[in-house]
Amino acid sequence: MALERTFSIIKPDATRRNLTGKINAKFEEAGLRIIAQKRIHLTKAQAGEFYKVHAARPFYDELCEFMASAPIVAQVLEGEDAILKNREVMGATNPADAAPGTIRAEFAESVGENSVHGSDAPDTAKEEIAYFFSGLELVG
Ligand code: CDP
Ligand code: MG
Repeated sequence: MALERTFSIIKPDATRRNLTGKINAKFEEAGLRIIAQKRIHLTKAQAGEFYKVHAARPFYDELCEFMASAPIVAQVLEGEDAILKNREVMGATNPADAAPGTIRAEFAESVGENSVHGSDAPDTAKEEIAYFFSGLELVG
């Protein structure tokens, strides 16, 4: 076990439906501490830069449009094994495959509009946190 930090986004489908508090409760119930959080409205170009790893995928353009369609809440979560734990709390990418009780099982609308993003590994967590937050904004 190791104390880790991971990057999280509450996506536009969830902010539109006023689900920020319900989703944050899931993180906190799982022992993840929200050590940084801000609500921002990405441009399509900023969303495209964030998701550039998916640039060649057929859903990329739609994903960038969606991520820029309403405000998001960008967050840093801290806890024991936070990266993996957050992926568990989120549930599978496609809500139809997500385990009961996970955020995506309870709230996601579709495979694209699936309420949350979470980093998938230590290197991406570090890179994604740095894209949205300065060190001074991380209050552990
Ligand atoms: O978010 P996660 O890491 O679970 O999935 P991903 O494979 O890294 O894909 C990133 C995001 O692209 C997903 O969360 C969806 O919003 C979107 N996506 C999509 O629109 N259609 C797919 N077939 C797969 C992913
Ligand atoms: Mg991913």
